[in-house]
Amino acid sequence: MTTHIGAQVGEIAETVLMPGDPYRAKWAAETFLKDAKIVNEVRGMLGFTGTWNGNRVTIQGSGMGMPSLSIYANELISAYGAKTLIRIGSCGGMQPHVGIRDVIIAMTATTITSPSSGIFREMNFAPCADWSLLQAAVNAAQTMDTKTHVGGIYSSDVFYAERPDLDEQMVRHGVLGVEMEAAELYILAARHKCRALAVLTVSDHLQTGEALPASEREQSFGDMVEIALKAAFP
Ligand code: ADE
Repeated sequence: MTTHIGAQVGEIAETVLMPGDPYRAKWAAETFLKDAKIVNEVRGMLGFTGTWNGNRVTIQGSGMGMPSLSIYANELISAYGAKTLIRIGSCGGMQPHVGIRDVIIAMTATTITSPSSGIFREMNFAPCADWSLLQAAVNAAQTMDTKTHVGGIYSSDVFYAERPDLDEQMVRHGVLGVEMEAAELYILAARHKCRALAVLTVSDHLQTGEALPASEREQSFGDMVEIALKAAFP
């Protein structure tokens, strides 16, 4: 057990999918995993371990924002031996060619600050995805009907942005979407010699103001989970 995860050592798989929303962890485990067993309920941040195509997988909620994700990813890596961590979550689209329901596979994640900023100080470390996972995710997406984009995303500290100019700079520099967790996951994976990737579904769009209706979320999120699982076990 750790401070925030109640699982026994051995109950967490080496491969962990991390949605922000604990109820999405439950849904994904029930939908995709065989013999899924709940392994964490501390603070309602649900985690499940089961198998996918015979491979052991844990799906553990990360909460929203980099500080929350940092707690779970640190404990998963240091106490439970997680080696492959894939964020599955939603993001806001930032480019006209990126549509609602599309999937974004995040090659890099730009930030202003992250929980690791204190370590890097004046240095702008470049958080990037693990190449083998990225390549496998792209290969998987190409066999599916899902419209998929591969490129940079922006990991923001805020959902309700007071500085529209920051989003504008991201748009101007070709960033595909905005979310709030991936950059710190990539940094932690680099620090601990793990593999990380973020596979995201576009749930809303900053330019058009469109948002995915709740009734349509499951199908779109399902494609993202499938890509993440195929990336982990190509
Ligand atoms: N996650 C989903 N949509 C988002 C947005 N517009 N900003 C930040 N995180 C998000």
